[in-house]
Amino acid sequence: MNEAQAFEIVRKALKPRRFEHTERVVSEASKLAERFGGNLEKIRLAAILHDYAKYRSYDEMRSTVLNNRHLPNRLLEYGNELLHSFVGAVYVQEELKVDDDIILSAIRYHTTGRAGMTLEEKIVFLADYIEPGRTFPEAGQVRETAEADLDKGCLEALRNTIVFLSKKSLPVYPDTFEAYNEFAINLRAYGG
Ligand SMILES: [Fe+2]
Ligand SMILES: [Fe+2]
Repeated sequence: MNEAQAFEIVRKALKPRRFEHTERVVSEASKLAERFGGNLEKIRLAAILHDYAKYRSYDEMRSTVLNNRHLPNRLLEYGNELLHSFVGAVYVQEELKVDDDIILSAIRYHTTGRAGMTLEEKIVFLADYIEPGRTFPEAGQVRETAEADLDKGCLEALRNTIVFLSKKSLPVYPDTFEAYNEFAINLRAYGG
């Protein structure tokens, strides 16, 4: 699948506002790739498709989780916001026949992060967090940090997500904690 085809597919699958968000994520991800490397073609395709499942019904996503042995059932306890990224990777593979692990895992972990993120995963995760449409003050701070240091940017975004959720007494998906811990430990080890 080429970029133009992928854009056409998500233009139909998403509401206009979400499609515009997607375009901004693609351009932000491209900038990050120029700065920090990674496979630009795969990063851009993952960014185009990252919210592919955003408007699927909760019932459909829920039954996808229950019927897919690769998706843990505990996902169902953490709400829709995180579900669309995990089932999105499944739909992109099954419906759009994208069969590339780099692309699929960047879609799968774009909301939660995880320990051991690939460069491409970090870039799509961070681009989604800092695209210019994100106007909350924390995004500005992370944007600044990410100019110089991709891992530090990821650490701050993960930290903010954990703070945001825990302030509301909402559950935090374990992958997010594990990603946060890994970045925090590594950055401390290297004096960051
Ligand atoms: Fe998303
Ligand atoms: Fe997004």
